[in-house]
Amino acid sequence: MQQVQGVVARKKGAPVEIVTINIPDPGPGEAVVKVLSCGVCHTDLHYREGGINDDFPFLLGHESAGIVESVGSDVTEVAPGDFVVLNWRAVCGQCRACKRGEPHYCFATHNAKQKMTLEDGTELTPALGIGSLAEKTLVAAGQCTKVDPEARPAAVGLLGCGVMAGIGAAINTGAITRGKSIAVIGCGGVGAAAIAGAALAGASPIIAVDIDAKKLAKAKQLGATHTINSSDQDPVEEIKRICAQTYEGADGADVVVEAVGRPETWKQAFYARDLAGTVVLVGVPTPDMKVPDLPLIDVFGRGGALKSSWYGDCLPSRDFPMLVDLYRQGRLDLDAFVSEEIGLGDVEAAFDKMHHGDVLRSVVIL
Ligand code: APR
Ligand code: ZN
Ligand code: ZN
Repeated sequence: MQQVQGVVARKKGAPVEIVTINIPDPGPGEAVVKVLSCGVCHTDLHYREGGINDDFPFLLGHESAGIVESVGSDVTEVAPGDFVVLNWRAVCGQCRACKRGEPHYCFATHNAKQKMTLEDGTELTPALGIGSLAEKTLVAAGQCTKVDPEARPAAVGLLGCGVMAGIGAAINTGAITRGKSIAVIGCGGVGAAAIAGAALAGASPIIAVDIDAKKLAKAKQLGATHTINSSDQDPVEEIKRICAQTYEGADGADVVVEAVGRPETWKQAFYARDLAGTVVLVGVPTPDMKVPDLPLIDVFGRGGALKSSWYGDCLPSRDFPMLVDLYRQGRLDLDAFVSEEIGLGDVEAAFDKMHHGDVLRSVVIL
């Protein structure tokens, strides 16, 4: 057992605190990781607001890169000294989804079995089974993916959640390829990553939609060929116009990614797709939201697909090393997602900044 400092949400709505936490030595299948960087994600804020569950206190943080410090017995995935990106999809290999060759849908992902605790022994719930807004954390070895050790931790650690969700929404779920058209509605961290992924895959045109001009400027920097400010223009009409300009007869985009998580934008995505186009829902709706009331004939008559994308349908062991290599080759600008580097004590300030337009990610450096 050892003691380190970590960012804990003790009770619903209360500001987070830096406290001493106890980290057990790794047991079978577990690893202790020295954290080098951790992005601050909306999900961390949702935890502290009680929007996910009531299992307080939470040890926040889950978008991290670090170095494996020690491993327990039966660990084959990683060894001490490995540079890793953490993930929340350690797949089981045994469930129906894993067995039918779709491990990205694994129904039985796992985390460390032992619990990290407060000094008084109270068990902590680690955010998304990781809890890496801390100097060190205990995870399942399968939550560690070894990547190129020369890569910048702050940038590649973001693959651990939001950036992977966005890239994967375009590439994995949307199956976007060279020459396909794509529109992305909502260009925050997730949507901007979908644009970067689409650019990487050679999509064209790549249409960015947002209500915030600063997000659209960033989208352009990441590869958007067109931008639409949907406060000023009807995005559906405009997407159709741009696609028809490029491909005669097109009636929308081949793939539309919804990265806001609201019924209005879902409806825009639905009607902005071309006939038999694909809608990818990656923005996370709240439980009270409903699918908009659409004429069934509009769904029936068009073919195509309506898909949701959970964590970008990623398989970390396949996708992280590839994306880190593309980053190292200068083909994927992960640095663009690091808006600022901050300290462990700045997490509340980072939550405040999420509501302003100029931050994709605040990243804590440890
Ligand atoms: N039309 C277009 N864009 C919108 C609209 C709208 N009606 N409303 C909000 N947006 C834009 C915001 O301006 C912002 O750029 O959507 C973006 C949302 O981005 P972030 O708040 O940075 O969220 P992000 O981290 O990208 O996550 C997107 O997925 O993980 C979930 O909870 C998260 O639902 C959110 C979504
Ligand atoms: Zn499984
Ligand atoms: Zn996240």
